[in-house]
Amino acid sequence: MTWQILTVPIFKSIYVSECLLEPDEVGSNIAQIKNVSILKNNSLDITGCLILCRGRFVGALEGGRRSVEATLEHVRQDPRHRGMVTLREEASDERSFGDWSLAYAGQSLFIAGIVDRALRGVDEDVGYLVNAIVEFSGGVRQ
Ligand SMILES: Cc1cc2nc3c(=O)[nH]c(=O)nc-3n(C[C@H](O)[C@H](O)[C@H](O)COP(=O)(O)O)c2cc1C
Repeated sequence: MTWQILTVPIFKSIYVSECLLEPDEVGSNIAQIKNVSILKNNSLDITGCLILCRGRFVGALEGGRRSVEATLEHVRQDPRHRGMVTLREEASDERSFGDWSLAYAGQSLFIAGIVDRALRGVDEDVGYLVNAIVEFSGGVRQ
């Protein structure tokens, strides 16, 4: 008898939104978002990354499709941001954010430039964005 190992694809979603926090509110709110996300994302087997650049949040979440979509719907209702737009969704064989429930990678002007182009509809830059986020977040610890 032969056995086949069936792997469930990892669903990845990258979004961008407008941050509504005042500069002096950012630090404490990011800490709060990170703390709650580590618990909740971990319980749903979701991993991801959050970046703040030029007044925009750029977030990437990955895991089971239902869990990721439910989390995104919940995050969408958060009054700390608005205008959440999905930049890219894809199924993949592997995770990009390893074992981070939600890494906060700080501010990146480099990512901001790529996001600007992606929002203007330059398709190949959206794929590039995934790699750029992974690379940028590679230097952070939770
Ligand atoms: C930009 C942004 C990203 C967020 N990302 C997550 C996340 O990945 N996981 C999560 O559980 N909450 C995330 N949150 C926080 C949620 O919106 C929400 O405050 C949190 O899940 C607690 O929800 P509750 O009070 O209904 O339990 C994020 C919030 C913002 C503004």
